[in-house]
Amino acid sequence: MDGESERKIILSGIQPTSTFTLGNYIGAMKNWKKLQDENDCYYFLADLHTLTIRLEPKELRAKTAENFALLIACGLAPEKSLIFIQSQVPTHAEAGWILQCYTQFGELSRMTQFKDKSKQHPENINAGLFAYPSLMAADILLYQADYVPTGEDQKQHIEIARDIAQRFNGLYGEVFKIPAPYISKQGARIMSLADPARKMSKSDLHPRGPVLLLDKPEIIMRKFKSAKTDSGTEVVYGEGKDGINNLMTIYSCVTNRSFEEIEREFSGQGYGAFKKAVGEAVIEELRPIREEHERLMKDKIYLESCFRQGAEKAFAISRRTLTKMKKKLGLLM
Ligand code: AMP
Ligand code: TRP
Repeated sequence: MDGESERKIILSGIQPTSTFTLGNYIGAMKNWKKLQDENDCYYFLADLHTLTIRLEPKELRAKTAENFALLIACGLAPEKSLIFIQSQVPTHAEAGWILQCYTQFGELSRMTQFKDKSKQHPENINAGLFAYPSLMAADILLYQADYVPTGEDQKQHIEIARDIAQRFNGLYGEVFKIPAPYISKQGARIMSLADPARKMSKSDLHPRGPVLLLDKPEIIMRKFKSAKTDSGTEVVYGEGKDGINNLMTIYSCVTNRSFEEIEREFSGQGYGAFKKAVGEAVIEELRPIREEHERLMKDKIYLESCFRQGAEKAFAISRRTLTKMKKKLGLLM
């Protein structure tokens, strides 16, 4: 993916349910930023997707504003990438409905995220939670995306988007480009610090599981110092060492050092010194982001102009595909 002629369309989204985590940053945003110079990138807050679980309206509004600023603070530049809020672009919900009619009950039933979330919220297994992948397919296919950079957990959803696109194209001709997942080899699945057998997640209720991008330095350090590890002492990557493996992955992604370099650097030093070093590296990586976020949050006019313009442009682009879909289906225009 380099060179002018190789310019690709890149698209990804993230739910603004709560403050982004270090997992989101390493698995998603850090890669999104790298891609924006040489490609046409579209990044958005998937707020319609958050409606599949119950959130306080006040909370959703606040988190959407906070996280929009956070995307920019992480280095996504509105003058390079198109950054927008999903619910402000009506084509998504409309195309989402159409694509639900081209998604099978059986394939949706196999989605692991649906199974997990139904277990987490047995009192609210709504139709939106079930049909979530159809809306996500619409998000991707409306923009004719070539690549969808996400963490490992979204791979299954990208695959179903490909299946839906192929099915639709098979019936009506070439309407959609077939998108491909773009998942980095390292850091695609950062684990919880409190329980390294589980994914680091925004919705984790454990106070020391997720590191949030806006956590203060002392909080970040406390979380790393209390990170769960095994009973060994040597900083080496290996089986049965989920906690250390996770810390090594984080350290490697943040400092660009290889596992061998890390093992050499911390040889004979024990877990305590290593945890402290990882904490320090993460604090330094996140410091400019937190400071930029604080500055941006004071500039509401700028933020609003960014998301208004983003939505307008996204609408103009996505409408082309939606119009094509509707014509092919025989909807009178
Ligand atoms: P979500 O938090 O589910 O809205 O996910 C937003 C993006 O972050 C998606 O690309 C996910 O794949 C990615 N992501 C979420 N959690 C992690 C994690 N623990 N490690 C790596 N990537 C993640
Ligand atoms: N489902 C994604 C998540 O929970 C968010 C998302 C919504 C998305 N639409 C998308 C990601 C389109 C990539 C492309 O992380």
